[in-house]
Amino acid sequence: MNGGLVAWDDAKVHVGAHGLHYGTGVFEGIRAYETPAGTAVFRLREHLERLARSAQLVSLTLPYSVDEVRAGILELVAANGLPECYIRPIAFSGAGALGVAPCGNPVEVAVLSWPWGAYLGDQGLTQGIRATISTWKRVGANTIPHAAKATGIYLNSMLAVVEAQRAGYDEAILLTDAGYVADGSGENVFVIKTAGSRRRRSRARSFPGSPETR
Ligand SMILES: Cc1ncc(COP(=O)(O)O)c(C=O)c1O
Repeated sequence: MNGGLVAWDDAKVHVGAHGLHYGTGVFEGIRAYETPAGTAVFRLREHLERLARSAQLVSLTLPYSVDEVRAGILELVAANGLPECYIRPIAFSGAGALGVAPCGNPVEVAVLSWPWGAYLGDQGLTQGIRATISTWKRVGANTIPHAAKATGIYLNSMLAVVEAQRAGYDEAILLTDAGYVADGSGENVFVIKTAGSRRRRSRARSFPGSPETR
């Protein structure tokens, strides 16, 4: 935390932190995996380069270089000694002025790490999950620069997943304003098109009265 190793219980943030009030923060979600060569962090540099781009997009000046954060993360993973772990670097506008514009507030940088299994549960990996299309639209590019992985944007994701879970689903899929698939509340969406799915589509086309036959 801000350059030093801090015990979990002592890693505290001031209630006046600007990021707490206005969501002025950026973060990454990174994983380290057990490999025959020891614990390995997946695409660490790329994640940290994205963190730096996210910070730039929301006008946060990071007090550390990508190399410095990278060294800190490797030190943290080694210190924790977990064979596999989740790694969450976060940079946010700290305590100071509480106007909406963060005037000279210090930018705090912390990296949390803990064991975290499959995001949607082990059963989800083998049996799939139930997802629903959210009534909440993904925040548009002209609303917040959503290429930035910014903390404040996640209010949008939180609303979507809470709505989905209340309706009995595991996850929400958010659409853009134009109705295209954007992403899940906490993950990307990939589609696998198979020969089978083409066959199913052609059966649908020949169904009497279906719009595709007109
Ligand atoms: C809203 C959202 N979309 C997509 C992703 C996938 O991120 P990545 O680009 O790191 O795979 C995440 C992961 O945190 C997410 O929270």
